[in-house]
Amino acid sequence: MEKIIDENTQGNTLTLEARDNNSKKLYIESYGCAMNFSDSEIVASILADQGYNTTNLLEEADLVLVNTCSIRDKAEQTIRKRLEKYNAVKRSINPKMKVGVLGCMAERLKEKFLEEEKIVDLVVGPDAYKDIPNLLKEVEEGRDAVNVILSKEETYGDISPVRLGGNGITAYVSITRGCDNMCTFCVVPFTRGRERSRDPQSILSEIDDLAEKNYKEITLLGQNVDSYLWYGGGLKKDFKSASEMQQATATDFAQLLDMAATAHPEMRIRFSTSNPQDMHEEVLHIVAKHKNICNHIHLPVQSGSTRILKEMNRQHTREEYMKLIERIWEIIPGCSISQDLIIGFPTETEEDHKETLSLMEQVKYGFGYMYKYSERPGTMAARKLEDDVPEETKSRRLTEIVNLQQKHSAIRTAEFLGETVTVLIEKESKKNKDEWSGRTEHNNVAVFPKENYKAGDFVLVKITDCTTATLIGEAVGYL
Ligand code: SAH
Ligand code: F3S
Repeated sequence: MEKIIDENTQGNTLTLEARDNNSKKLYIESYGCAMNFSDSEIVASILADQGYNTTNLLEEADLVLVNTCSIRDKAEQTIRKRLEKYNAVKRSINPKMKVGVLGCMAERLKEKFLEEEKIVDLVVGPDAYKDIPNLLKEVEEGRDAVNVILSKEETYGDISPVRLGGNGITAYVSITRGCDNMCTFCVVPFTRGRERSRDPQSILSEIDDLAEKNYKEITLLGQNVDSYLWYGGGLKKDFKSASEMQQATATDFAQLLDMAATAHPEMRIRFSTSNPQDMHEEVLHIVAKHKNICNHIHLPVQSGSTRILKEMNRQHTREEYMKLIERIWEIIPGCSISQDLIIGFPTETEEDHKETLSLMEQVKYGFGYMYKYSERPGTMAARKLEDDVPEETKSRRLTEIVNLQQKHSAIRTAEFLGETVTVLIEKESKKNKDEWSGRTEHNNVAVFPKENYKAGDFVLVKITDCTTATLIGEAVGYL
């Protein structure tokens, strides 16, 4: 998803305002995609009602929860290391501490987790968070507790997430859960289940609530936002025919986006992730129509080779993808586009790899997330194809695309030199405490001297300099 927090390396501990009557302490750490971070807020909300306040001190926690990612093997290894750390703390400092595993690894490994990782007391899949209070009772009574049932309905639409550790300025709003696309490399359909869309009214009221609390930017979140479709609940596939589906009063993603942008013209709106095969042109027109919807589309391509795309079960060719990119730029001139790419998918030849490089040259993405193929147990690719690209070849190809992306990022960033852009101030710059850091609508990070501006202000910034990925400038006034 946009702002994929690097699944491999970064965990994030979340804390929230304490409730006075709550005496137990929850330490919750999240890995992986934005959806996990968003889910942890739902979990914290459920546990706040059970008497838990969050803490960022592992040592004092009564309950430690880790929201996990299975997308690549490396992500899972990171979690295993964290479990070792929890184990060490439990043994040496805090023997009463209970440990629970949430998210995609919980779903993938289920009961096996309890056997493999002796420290784990509780295993909860992404659709079972409402059951955590019951599972905790089981744990208190000395039993291991597992709920990994995937749901056809659960969207957590009725839970108002507690905004954890955030900046009070930007927030995620989840609109769909699960994914029906079955890309052959991807574990998500197995760990997050079937695609379900959330009731638009509950989405809009969550945005109302955020606006009231003075949030300035939201990101509508889903594995595949373009296939958002609400027609009263359930799975899309429950309809026998397309016409039966259309007859139901439905809201699609373009309509949802239009409603959100119209209801809150002061709120900046982003969305992620777009899937090329499901993106409708209407969405582009809605982006063009509303000033408050950011001109940035995260449009993973995975490979520049049509043959590999087919092996991946991506439902489009290279040419169709390029056509979509052209339409984006026709309808939203200057729209920034970012990518996800996988190198070393089984059977990928040097020719295929060159096609990826040439596609990158054609698009010149603003930025991207690039990965070596990692075989995931149970996926179609794992079952049908041998992971046959040697590790050294994978490493070399990855370096090549990363270097090329850096070159393109530098070109795209430099396009803003001399321009005045609107920046939403998010936080103090890490490098200089006298500067603010924020993002432009094209999703570039921009830094500039603080003067009298405040976090949460929309500021016009004249860009005077840049690095590969960061714009540097001076504020010239409020928007
Ligand atoms: N639709 C999702 C994609 C989830 S995974 C979203 O909204 O983000 C994010 C990215 O991880 C994918 O786009 C893909 O580039 C990468 N990825 C997924 N499975 C992978 C695997 N088995 N090996 C390497 N990279 C993978
Ligand atoms: Fe994964 Fe493809 Fe869905 S990458 S999340 S199966 S769109």
